[in-house]
Amino acid sequence: MGRIFSGIQPTGDLHLGNYLGAIRNWVKLQDQYKNLFCLVDLHALTTLPNPQDMTKWTREVAAAYIAAGIDSAKSIIFSQSAVPAHSELAWILSCLTPLGWLNRMTQFKEKAGKHREKANLGLYAYPVLMAADILIYRATHVPVGEDQKQHLELARDIAGAFNRQYGKDYFELPEPLILKTAARVMSLRDGTSKMSKSDPSDYSRLHFMDDPDTIALKIRKAKTDPDPITGTPQTMENRPEALNLLGIYAALSDITLEEACRIFEGASFSAFKKSLADQIISIMDPIRQEMLALLKDPGNLDRILQKGAEEANTLASQHLREIKEIIGFLRT
Ligand code: TYM
Repeated sequence: MGRIFSGIQPTGDLHLGNYLGAIRNWVKLQDQYKNLFCLVDLHALTTLPNPQDMTKWTREVAAAYIAAGIDSAKSIIFSQSAVPAHSELAWILSCLTPLGWLNRMTQFKEKAGKHREKANLGLYAYPVLMAADILIYRATHVPVGEDQKQHLELARDIAGAFNRQYGKDYFELPEPLILKTAARVMSLRDGTSKMSKSDPSDYSRLHFMDDPDTIALKIRKAKTDPDPITGTPQTMENRPEALNLLGIYAALSDITLEEACRIFEGASFSAFKKSLADQIISIMDPIRQEMLALLKDPGNLDRILQKGAEEANTLASQHLREIKEIIGFLRT
């Protein structure tokens, strides 16, 4: 049985991109693999959130995982900072990672923006910690959205560098699992940019905590064009907003984009948007309700995370011992 590792940064209310690009697929894969689903709070630290927010968002993201269908009896749910081996392996891997590889990372360039000199070392080293997250469990598969593809390629390169350096096939190269539908959910305001937590406009994304009225309003306000929907994605090639909304409908309905186009062929956007809002609400509102119920008992969430951390620590510390032995560190 393969082993899955994936994670989300607890830096704010999750959005539909996180759901369709990641969590929904984790739920679908849950029975076929051994799974570790992490709240990557060490990665979140690169944005220096205040301590209250860090705690609040860690619980909220844990609640989102569980409410969306991740079962703590089948999958290990835990905080990254509760397993020290992630940070230890990150250091080891950083000694095997040429700066040239990190300099190619487009997410660093985007996030650092014009003030590159002021960006912190954590943000720059971020992909090495991500490689450590995956490799410390010797994970075989990593389900993520399309935006993480380059980081996963780097994780494979780093695993290969370790194996070559020590002349041992210790790490299997982890495979990205990027499902085709909704691998890249776009902003509701601009079909050419990714739906993201950092977009200043709240109307650009749908949050897990949005109530049905807010969802309906955001979908009504979503940017579209005046033309009706045509029967194939190819005939809508230059209509990114239209394709994005149809893609969201398709992903939520477990149908292909082609099927969604056929169903709504000839429909106006006002009619389609009504069906889309209903579909989103029917899936996301039960998740929101369940999250609210879970958040009423933070002690219970903390216990789930503690149990997960114990299980993750057992796996990770065993691998770290083996890695240290390969490197030649003295056993203490
Ligand atoms: P993060 O927190 O930015 O996003 C979490 C997951 O959501 C996916 N995602 C999207 N998918 C489709 N459309 C979108 N608009 C969209 N926005 C976000 C992301 O692809 C991701 O799967 N570096 C990672 C977290 C991480 C990680 C790891 C992931 C740390 N260590 C090890 C996998 C394995 C990140 O910042 O994700």
